[in-house]
Amino acid sequence: MNLILMGPPGAGKGTQARRIAERYEIPQLSTGDMLRAAVKAGTDVGRQAKAAMESGGLVTDEIVVGIIADRIGEADCARGFILDGFPRTVAQAEALDAMLAARRLKIDHVIDITADTEALVSRITGRSTCSQCGEGYHATHKKPAAAGLCDKCGGTLTTRADDNEETVRNRLAVYHQQTAPVIDHYRNGGQFRTVDGMQQMDTVFAQLCEILG
Ligand code: AP5
Ligand code: MG
Repeated sequence: MNLILMGPPGAGKGTQARRIAERYEIPQLSTGDMLRAAVKAGTDVGRQAKAAMESGGLVTDEIVVGIIADRIGEADCARGFILDGFPRTVAQAEALDAMLAARRLKIDHVIDITADTEALVSRITGRSTCSQCGEGYHATHKKPAAAGLCDKCGGTLTTRADDNEETVRNRLAVYHQQTAPVIDHYRNGGQFRTVDGMQQMDTVFAQLCEILG
């Protein structure tokens, strides 16, 4: 099963992609996570991506299309994959169509998770993530049992460099200008669905599973 999870920053793409990955045993391909890893490792891609990510702008189509083209060719994607945060421009969606056609693959589901702007800002500015296992937390919606430590593995919780309010508002503006039009690329295909991301995380997950079957 090949799935695209869409939605604005903070909608819950990462939260739900991790759960879907566990339930359906297919990998989560988050371009944001891959780019952050590249920035941390100081690779060429990381050096090119850093400034755009810190300002809340988009990294070039060329870089992210290259990353995804390499990643979907890896062995663990043979049974399917979850795209989280890609495609984010119409050009990326067109590049994805071409790379899937070349591999005789297709997208089975495109799910857009929606949420209110002010909720998104509060979700993102309250977010922390485990530096070891990647589990996500929130200062009010999902508090760790011990402050600053992951419930699952005991790892240290960190916050993202782009999770301050000013950058979040820029990320939201960029989403409306450049990513929202991608919805039209998929809307008329039979595989497009919307899920209300303002519901409890468990309810959102249950609705996603109902769609995925
Ligand atoms: P990326 O990492 O993709 O960030 P994003 O799209 O801004 O989305 P987020 O990761 O912030 O939100 P999410 O939807 O995953 O929400 P989450 O589940 O964490 O991209 C970062 C940057 O990388 C971009 O700005 C760009 O520079 C670059 N980039 C990445 N991909 C690119 C591409 N394709 N092209 C160009 N550039 C690219 O949830 C958020 C919080 O809310 C958490 O604390 C969570 O616990 C909480 N939460 C989740 N669901 C709920 C719920 N139902 N109720 C209450 N709280 C909830
Ligand atoms: Mg995410």
